[in-house]
Amino acid sequence: MRKIIKKELLLEGKTKKIYATENPHEVIIHYKDSITALDGLKKDFLQDKGILNNEITTFIFKFLNSYGLKTHFIRRINNREQLCHKVDIIPLEFVVRNILSGSISKRLGVKEGTIPLNTIFEIFYKNDNLKDPLINDHHAVLLGLISYEELNITYRITSNINNILKKFFLDKNIILVDFKIEFGKDSKNQIFLSDEISPDTCRLWDKKTREKFDKDIFRSGFSEKVLDAYIEILKRLNVG
Ligand code: TMP
Ligand code: ASP
Repeated sequence: MRKIIKKELLLEGKTKKIYATENPHEVIIHYKDSITALDGLKKDFLQDKGILNNEITTFIFKFLNSYGLKTHFIRRINNREQLCHKVDIIPLEFVVRNILSGSISKRLGVKEGTIPLNTIFEIFYKNDNLKDPLINDHHAVLLGLISYEELNITYRITSNINNILKKFFLDKNIILVDFKIEFGKDSKNQIFLSDEISPDTCRLWDKKTREKFDKDIFRSGFSEKVLDAYIEILKRLNVG
């Protein structure tokens, strides 16, 4: 395997850093130990959380790659880092809800835990100044973020991912309540699943007890319990 040369920092987000490599089409993604919520207003540092999310995301992206899904993930380099295809992130968050919780419960006044007859798909505009508003397809095209053709593709992939991951987690006695994914485009305009899939970006409940194993623990103010929950998820991924 070739030696990867880590070059300059390209971008630093709330929970990850992206570095250039000697290959202009590949980047190193470094997972930090920070955890944030409420658009960055609520912050904490959790020792080694980055290691857990790197491992969990690696596991899930490898699994999705095995289904022939095009993801940015190439391979895990070390505890905290992955080698990924370089993409420009489409500034949209694609959210899928199998059970209603979080912002939709507040927005629409529906009870947390309600199972909708239809799977709910939402898009949010990634824009800190506007506080990541919920928008619709026409707004996304109006803003020049994506085309209708690309939306067709990204919704289809999102729905596939939901079907694959719902079953995958259920086999591990975890309910995939909801999740958020992001897509990016490479220099040839090919669409790749990007970013991460981890307990930071999903709601994951125990099938029997409905205990939460995700970032809602942090959102509710129990920072000290977050790592144990993420460790539990990693343990279950590695079993069976
Ligand atoms: P929400 O209920 O707050 O809209 O979140 C829905 C799902 O998307 C939940 O699993 C958390 C995830 N999510 C993120 O990962 N990042 C975000 O910025 C938002 C708003 C949600
Ligand atoms: N937009 C929020 C954030 O700052 C989402 C959350 O509460 O997880 O990450």
